[in-house]
Amino acid sequence: MAIARVHPLLVAFLALLLLGTCQARPAPRPAASKGAVVDGITAIYNFGDSISDTGNLLREGAAGGMMEHTVALPYGAAIGGATGRCSDGYLMIDYLAKDLGLPLLNPYLDKGADFTHGVNFAVTGATALDTAALARIGVTAPHTNSSLNVQLQWFKDFMSATTKSPAEVREKLVNALVMVGEIGGNDYNYAFAMNRPRSGSDGERSVADVGRMMTGVVESMVLVPKVVQSVISAAREVLDMGATRVVIPGNFPLGCVPSYLAAVNETDSAAYDGNGCLVGLNLFAQMHNVLLQQGIRELRRSYPAATIAYADYFNAYVRMLEGAREMGFDGSAVTKACCSAGGGDGSKYNFDMERMCGAPGTAVCSRPEERISWDGVHLTQRAYSVMAGLLYHKGFASPPPVKFPRQ
Ligand SMILES: *[C@@H]1O[C@H](CO)[C@@H](O)[C@H](O)[C@H]1NC(C)=O
Ligand SMILES: *[C@@H]1O[C@H](CO)[C@@H](O)[C@H](O)[C@H]1NC(C)=O
Repeated sequence: MAIARVHPLLVAFLALLLLGTCQARPAPRPAASKGAVVDGITAIYNFGDSISDTGNLLREGAAGGMMEHTVALPYGAAIGGATGRCSDGYLMIDYLAKDLGLPLLNPYLDKGADFTHGVNFAVTGATALDTAALARIGVTAPHTNSSLNVQLQWFKDFMSATTKSPAEVREKLVNALVMVGEIGGNDYNYAFAMNRPRSGSDGERSVADVGRMMTGVVESMVLVPKVVQSVISAAREVLDMGATRVVIPGNFPLGCVPSYLAAVNETDSAAYDGNGCLVGLNLFAQMHNVLLQQGIRELRRSYPAATIAYADYFNAYVRMLEGAREMGFDGSAVTKACCSAGGGDGSKYNFDMERMCGAPGTAVCSRPEERISWDGVHLTQRAYSVMAGLLYHKGFASPPPVKFPRQ
């Protein structure tokens, strides 16, 4: 069984993906690109987590907590200041907006912002399932309660406030691209984390601890159909309201991410694939993706007139890993974090969970533009730009949600 390949120690570190570690102060908005309307799209509405948050979490004031020593920079260093984006610069959603000739998407919680060309509802640390539902099964969401349902309610509130009738909402959505995710990764992380050993212990893991951690993994597997269901039903709601173009992204290959690789520290080479990724963890992500694509096929049957794309983050990421050198990345560092304290046994992946990017003693690598991983959890803006290219120009989002003019 796939999960048997996952080293038990892994679960102690899944909390790393809590994605609440990149707080920042609001910064001047990056200049928006201006251009002709592409393929009739005049707005983007986005739901998600830290992969696409452009400033909502920091406006919720939920920063701090487990990573209170984290300061704004070096997040945003490549774009002149921190904005709440979990990267050195821009995210996939920014590159998509730019490609569409639209201004960068403003976060919903930036109340004075211009939402003429869409709204970003994504919140770093957000879950697909409601935090109350997670709490009922003992899973705590530490950073935000702004789950997918909450974001969906924001979307409805926004539509009510800016239109006079459901017909007007449909009119507005005809020319819009709606991104439902990536979201759900945090649900699994929080479920894994709830069974991790108490911090402050001497670091020895008892048999009981390991047993509890494995319980967390199993718990997460049980969550997969529920998480997928919540994503699909959110998509169904926006389609019912009139969306005609919806993109539903899958999960990343978690087994290729430096934070997991460092945490698992598996010495058995059989646990890794040819790209140096953990097979078991990638299978876990693929289990989510397979169910998600099944749900998307059902959606397509229900809404035959709509374009409902699956954005294959998993295979786009793998393609980027495999083509890293020709894409201008440092081929020897594709599984190393750029910003970190490095050191210790984490040096193979340049990742130390005790001192993540931004903490005292951490540093940024000399050429972030040649790295895939920014902080061991999130990607560099260069990697996000490559990902956006693969997804929206090279067919990794299918069917293509946007027909770009040939370049
Ligand atoms: C989420 O909601 C619960 C229950 O109302 C509350 O106790 C908790 O503080 C909230 N969490 C955040 C991060 O706001
Ligand atoms: C990683 O594994 C090696 C070899 O088993 C071990 O010596 C080292 O302590 C481990 N590192 C961590 C951080 O667990």
